[in-house]
Amino acid sequence: MSTAMAPLLFAVLVLPFAAPAAVTMARRNCSSYCGYPSNPPPPYPFGVGPSCSMPGFNLTCDADNGTYLLLGSPTMKVSFYSNEFNHNLRTSISYFVEMIAGVRDYSLHWEAPARPFVISGSSDMSLFVVGCGVKASLFIGNSAVEVGSCFAVCAEARILEKVLAGTCSGLGCCLIDIQVNLRAFTLNISRISDSARSEGVHAFISGDKNRLFSPIEALRSILPVPVPDEYEYSTVNPVLDWSIPYQPNCKRAMQNKGSYACVSKGSECHDSPIGGYLCYCQRGEGNAYVDGGCDNPPGYESIRPRTDCPTSCANVSTPFPFGTELGCFAKPHMYLKCNPTSYLPVLQLTDRTIISDISIDDGIFHVHETSKEPDDFPDSSDPALYALSEQRGVVTWAIDSMTCKNAKLDKSDYRCFTVHSDCIDVTEDRTTKHVGYRCKCSSGFEGNPYVQDGCRDVDECLQPDKYVCNGICQNNVGNYACIKCPRGTNFDVVTRKCKPSSAILGVTIGLSSGGGILFLAAVVAILTRRWKRGVQKRLRRRHYRKNRGILLEQLISSDKSASDGTKIFSLEELQKATNNFDHARVVGRGGHGTVYKGILTDQRVVAIKKSTLAVISEIDQFINEVSILSQINHRNVVKLHGCCLESEVPLLVYEFVSNGTLYDLLHRELNGGLSPLPWEERLRIATEIAGALTYLHSAASVSILHRDVKCMNVLLTDSYTVKVSDFGASRLIPNDQTHLVTAVQGTFGYLDPEYYHTGQLNEKSDVYSFGVILVELLTRRKPIIQNEQGEKQNLSNYFLWAMRERHPLEEMVDAQILEEASEEGVLCMARLAEECLSLTRGERPTMKDVEMRLQLLTGRRVAPRAGRDEAARPRCEAAGDGGRGSVAPAIGQHGSRQFSQEQEFMSSQRVPR
Ligand SMILES: *[C@@H]1O[C@H](CO)[C@@H](O)[C@H](O)[C@H]1NC(C)=O
Ligand SMILES: *[C@@H]1O[C@H](CO)[C@@H](O)[C@H](O)[C@H]1NC(C)=O
Ligand SMILES: *[C@@H]1O[C@H](CO)[C@@H](O)[C@H](O)[C@H]1NC(C)=O
Ligand SMILES: *[C@@H]1O[C@H](CO)[C@@H](O)[C@H](O)[C@H]1NC(C)=O
Ligand SMILES: *[C@@H]1O[C@H](CO)[C@@H](O)[C@H](O)[C@H]1NC(C)=O
Repeated sequence: MSTAMAPLLFAVLVLPFAAPAAVTMARRNCSSYCGYPSNPPPPYPFGVGPSCSMPGFNLTCDADNGTYLLLGSPTMKVSFYSNEFNHNLRTSISYFVEMIAGVRDYSLHWEAPARPFVISGSSDMSLFVVGCGVKASLFIGNSAVEVGSCFAVCAEARILEKVLAGTCSGLGCCLIDIQVNLRAFTLNISRISDSARSEGVHAFISGDKNRLFSPIEALRSILPVPVPDEYEYSTVNPVLDWSIPYQPNCKRAMQNKGSYACVSKGSECHDSPIGGYLCYCQRGEGNAYVDGGCDNPPGYESIRPRTDCPTSCANVSTPFPFGTELGCFAKPHMYLKCNPTSYLPVLQLTDRTIISDISIDDGIFHVHETSKEPDDFPDSSDPALYALSEQRGVVTWAIDSMTCKNAKLDKSDYRCFTVHSDCIDVTEDRTTKHVGYRCKCSSGFEGNPYVQDGCRDVDECLQPDKYVCNGICQNNVGNYACIKCPRGTNFDVVTRKCKPSSAILGVTIGLSSGGGILFLAAVVAILTRRWKRGVQKRLRRRHYRKNRGILLEQLISSDKSASDGTKIFSLEELQKATNNFDHARVVGRGGHGTVYKGILTDQRVVAIKKSTLAVISEIDQFINEVSILSQINHRNVVKLHGCCLESEVPLLVYEFVSNGTLYDLLHRELNGGLSPLPWEERLRIATEIAGALTYLHSAASVSILHRDVKCMNVLLTDSYTVKVSDFGASRLIPNDQTHLVTAVQGTFGYLDPEYYHTGQLNEKSDVYSFGVILVELLTRRKPIIQNEQGEKQNLSNYFLWAMRERHPLEEMVDAQILEEASEEGVLCMARLAEECLSLTRGERPTMKDVEMRLQLLTGRRVAPRAGRDEAARPRCEAAGDGGRGSVAPAIGQHGSRQFSQEQEFMSSQRVPR
C-alpha cells in the first residue's frame, strides 16, 4: 500500500504550478454583499461577482434560498463567521445513505470546491459514520489509496435501549481520522452482518471527537446532528484550509511580482503546509491580500480605505467612511450594501431602507423605505449611531459613540485626525440626546475629513456668488482677502474686475454698480424717471421723493460727523466688523437679504443686513428701508445705525438684537419642551408691538405700513423688549391718501384677505397681521396649522371658526394662560384678536384702538385678583373708555410722553404738505 500511496500524496501536496494566474486584478463593480446585516462582505481573495475574487475564490450569492454564499463547483455553502481574517473556511460535509434491501456496497465521492481548498491533514478532522452493521473505508480521491477504515456494529434494540450515549467508538458509530490532506475522497460503505442493522447511515466530517452518540438512535436512523444549515457557525462542522496555490512556495511567488498575492504594505509570505503560500500581516492582524489591508485594525474597521474602493453605487456616491466593500468602510455600521438585484443597483442601509444621498459635510443621509413596516437599523450599530432627524427621511449619523472630548483622548482611533478638520458632537434632533461624534473640514476648507489630507483649501475667489468680493480677490489658506479696487477704478459686476470708473459709467447705470457715486447716479435716474409721471400726483409725491433725496444727502453729509444719528459706514469698516462677511457670522436670512453679526471698532455690536441681489427693486427696497427707518426713533422699533453705499449690494447697519425672534420664543422647543411664557409677558409683548405699529401708522408725518408683520419680524432683546424689524417691504403713505395699490407681498398665514384680493393696502392690513400674532400669543400655535385630517389651515381661520362656534376657551388657549390669567382677560384678548381678524377692514379697530385696549387689559391685570368675581363684566369694546383711563397709568403716560418726543423729532423732518 505504501508504494501505491507515494505518487498520490505527491500529487496532493505538490500541485502542478502550470498556469500562474493574474491574482491581483482590478476589483471594480464588486457588489460584495450577501444578506444583510449579519453577513459582512467576504474578505478578498474571496469575492462575489466577476473579477472580484482571485481565481478559485469565486463566490456566488444564493439569495433565493435564505442567502448563502456558495463556493466553486460542485458548490459548497460557506460562511465567514468571524471578524478575524484567517486561512480557513468552515463548511459542511455530511451525507445520509439509505440502505436498500439486497444492496451491499455504497460509494460516495467528495471534491473540494476549487483548487485552493483542502481538508487539512493537520486540522484534526475525522470522518464519522453513524449506523449499524456497516464497514466504512475512506480513499484519497478516486484512487484505491486508503486513508483508513472502521466498523459500526450494534446489538438488538432491546439491549441498545439500555446503553447510554457515549463517544464514537464502534457501537452504532465509528470514525476514521484524517491525517492526510484531502482535496477529494471516496467513501465506500458495505453491509457486514445480518445482525442489527440500521435503515440508513449518516456520514459526516467533524473535528469534535468528544461528541456523544446514542446507539439506539443510530439503529433507528435518527439524525445524530441537527440539520447542517443550523450548524453553519458551529465548531462541529469541518474546516477547509486554503492557500494561494498557483506557486509552490513563497520563494517562487516573489519572483513573479505581477501575480504575487501579498500586496499590502507590511505583509509577509509563509509557505503553506498544504502547498502554495500564505500572506500574513507582520502585525498579525489584517488582510494582507488587499492594498492597505495591514494598516487597518482587526475586524471590519478601516482608518484608510483601500485604494480601489468603489466610489458609488449607481448614481449615489459612497464616500468614506461609508463603503460597500470590506476595507472601504470605517466602522461596521458604515457598511452599506450596493444591491444590484433590481433595475438599477440601489444603496441599502438595511433590506428595506434605501439611501439616496450621503452628505459628509452635514453628517446626514437621505433614506426612503421600501415598505411601511418600521425597519431596525443595523444590529452592528450598538449603541445606535444613527438617529432619525426631525426632517422626514433624513438620518443623522455619527462615526463613533464617543463625545468629541473623549474621542480626542484616544489618539489611536480618533477619526478627525487629518489637518484642518474639526470634531462635531452629534445629537438627536428631537431629544438632543448624545449620539456620538463626526468630523467636518474646518471653515475655509472642504473635502472629506475622514481621509488623510482630505480637507483642502477652498478657493473662495472661484465662487464669487458665495464669497462676495467687490475688488481684487486673493485666496489664502483657510480664507480669502478682498482688496478694494484702486483709486480711480470701480468694480465691474459683470467681469468681476476693477475697471476705470469712466469706462463703465454709461453702461451699468441703472443696472447695478459698486461705488457710492454710481449708486447715487442710479438712484437719481430712478427718481428722475418717476418724477416725470403724472402732473397731478407729482405735487403730492414731491415731498416724499424730495425726502428721499434729502435723506440720502443728509446721510452722506453726516458721514464725517460723529453724532449718533444715522451714519454712512465705509465698506472696510463693515468688512472688519464681520470678519469679511464670514459665514460663521450669519445670524439670519430673510426675504430681503442675509444678516451678519458684526462688531464695530467702537465695540458696538451690530446686525448688518446685506441685500441678496443688487437689482433695481432691491435698491428701491433698500432706499425704502433707509428712508423709513431713519425717520423712526421708537424703543420698540429696531434702530438703524446707518448704511453703506460703497458696496455693490447695499448694506444696512442696525442695532444688534440678541435674543432671537418672537417666533423662536413661542414655537421653538428647547430641551424637548417650550419654555414657559407668563401671561403678563405675553400681554406686554403684544402691547409693545401694538405701540410700535401705532407709532408707525400715525405718529410720523407720513403713515408707514409695515406690510410684513409677523412673529419672525419681532425681535427680542435680552430683557424681552420688543423690536419690530424688517422694513424691506414697508411703504409710506402720504397722509392725504387712504391706500396704495401694490403687488401683494407678505407672508402666508398673516396676509390680510382683503389686501390679497384687491391689492389695496392700508393700515388695516397690518392690523390683520397683528391679529394673527395675538392669536399665536393666546394659543401658542403656528400661523399655519394642520387639522386632524392633516390638511393645512390658517390659524386665523381656525380661530375665527372656534370663536364663532363658541368653543370653550380651554380648548383653544395655551394651558399656561388658563392657569395665570383671568377668564375675562383671556376673553378680552380673544375678542380683540377676533376683531383684528375681521374680514372687512371697516370692522377692524385701528392700531391705536388696539394698543389702548391692550393697555387697559394690562391695567386690569394690576387690579387685585380677589375682586375678580365682583368685577363688572369686562367691557372689551372699551377703546379709550374714560372710566378706566386711570387704571392703565404707567404705560399710558410713558407711551404718550414718548409719542410727543417722537412727534417733536419727526416734526423737525416733516415736510410741508
Ligand atoms: C462597471 O459598471 C459600469 C456600469 O454598470 C460599466 O460601465 C463599467 O464598464 C464597469 N466597470 C468595470 C471595470 O467593469
Ligand atoms: C464564478 O462562479 C460562477 C458560478 O459558479 C461562474 O458562472 C463564473 O464563471 C465564475 N467566475 C469566475 C471568474 O471564475
Ligand atoms: C433554491 O432551492 C431550491 C430547492 O430547495 C433549488 O431548486 C434551487 O435551485 C435553489 N436556488 C438556488 C439559486 O440555488
Ligand atoms: C468503492 O466502491 C465502488 C462501488 O461499489 C467500487 O467500484 C470501488 O472499486 C470501491 N473502491 C475501492 C477502493 O474499493
Ligand atoms: C439617481 O437616479 C434616480 C433614478 O434615475 C433619480 O431619481 C435620482 O434623483 C438620482 N440621484 C442622484 C443623486 O442623482
